Amino acid sequence: MTATKGLEGIVAATSSISSIHDGVLAYRGINIDELAERASYEETAYLLWYGKLPTKSQLLKLQQQLCDYAAVPEAVLEQMKLYPNNANTMAVLRTAVSALALYDETANDISRESNQLKAIKLQAQLPTLIAAYARIRDGKEPIAPLKNVSLPYNFLYMLSGEKPDEVAVRALDQALVLHADHELNASTFSARVTIATLSDIYSGITSAIGTLKGPLHGGANEAVMNMLSEIGTLDKAEAYIQNKLNNREKIMGFGHRVYKNGDPRAKHLQKMSRELSVLKGDSTLYDISVKVEELVTGQKGLKPNVDFYSASVYTLLGIPSDLFTPIFAISRLSGWTAHILEQLDDNRIIRPRADYVGPTNQRYIPIDMR
Ligand code: ACO
Repeated sequence: MTATKGLEGIVAATSSISSIHDGVLAYRGINIDELAERASYEETAYLLWYGKLPTKSQLLKLQQQLCDYAAVPEAVLEQMKLYPNNANTMAVLRTAVSALALYDETANDISRESNQLKAIKLQAQLPTLIAAYARIRDGKEPIAPLKNVSLPYNFLYMLSGEKPDEVAVRALDQALVLHADHELNASTFSARVTIATLSDIYSGITSAIGTLKGPLHGGANEAVMNMLSEIGTLDKAEAYIQNKLNNREKIMGFGHRVYKNGDPRAKHLQKMSRELSVLKGDSTLYDISVKVEELVTGQKGLKPNVDFYSASVYTLLGIPSDLFTPIFAISRLSGWTAHILEQLDDNRIIRPRADYVGPTNQRYIPIDMR
């Protein structure tokens, strides 16, 4: 038995949800480029869950459910008020999602029907939890979700209490489409491992959130923004990046385990970042990002991944950087839950082996002889 570090190249599941072939990402066989241009996030979530695009009435029903279930139990909001106001926002989300299970009598029902409904409920509740914490930690009261609006609209509204503008809603919607699923990425794998023990959906999503939090995965988008802020102005970009590369430090938002010739999602986010910069009349972040890309790709051959331009996009939308990874979680929730349903449809516990390389034939030494 020999191990493959990081399971590189190991095929660990069969799936019909999303695929990456020759650098092309598709959800249920539909190229992500087409979905990014034409689909809403709700349509995308439906596609991931049910395997096909919704009809008008199916979409209306889902949109209605996402509004109807968006409120979270008062007890969870009250608990959030007790969290430190400088807590890591992904840790808050992980804790709050785990707490939701305590107030759901169906939490341990793992039938497909119940899990599908809980997937929709969790999809509806995640934006509410994140917006609520963002306000609580700023000393403000959470805002109740609206009815009859889209999920990105509701999220932006619950953050600020103001009607979001159309451009912001469309930009966030597109970003959510782009992040919704990604084959057997680390957090999805976590969700599948957890659920394969026949544990409950809340446990699966809590595992996934904890995995997404790391800077080598979803946490990279916040780390990118920290880097862009540290660089500050375009003239400082070159020295900053050169110094990092000389010290063999990682540049956040670059590289990918599967894509070696570029992440197909990055170009959409770059375009969005450029367009939002023009609209806002401030291209500082975009210009720094382009310069960083030029330097890192030029010297290391590494291309930007989905996290790189999403940092400037979210900042241009006025969203604080600690909410970037939680927004990724809002989007990936549909992918995680689609994978949970798929795993349970044909389940076998996921239990690989380890290549033991430690000492052998050791004896127990009594404590006073050590
Ligand atoms: N900056 C500098 N060097 C890098 C970077 C980077 N961002 N990414 C990879 N490298 C280097 C590695 O250190 C390695 O160098 P070495 O051979 O001298 O040791 C070489 O490139 C090859 O690395 P890979 O084997 O391709 O990397 P791996 O598949 O193990 O990791 C990962 C992929 C985690 C995405 C990595 O590229 C990385 O850490 N990137 C920065 C963090 C990031 O942006 N994560 C988000 C990924 S997308 C997502 O999860 C949503």
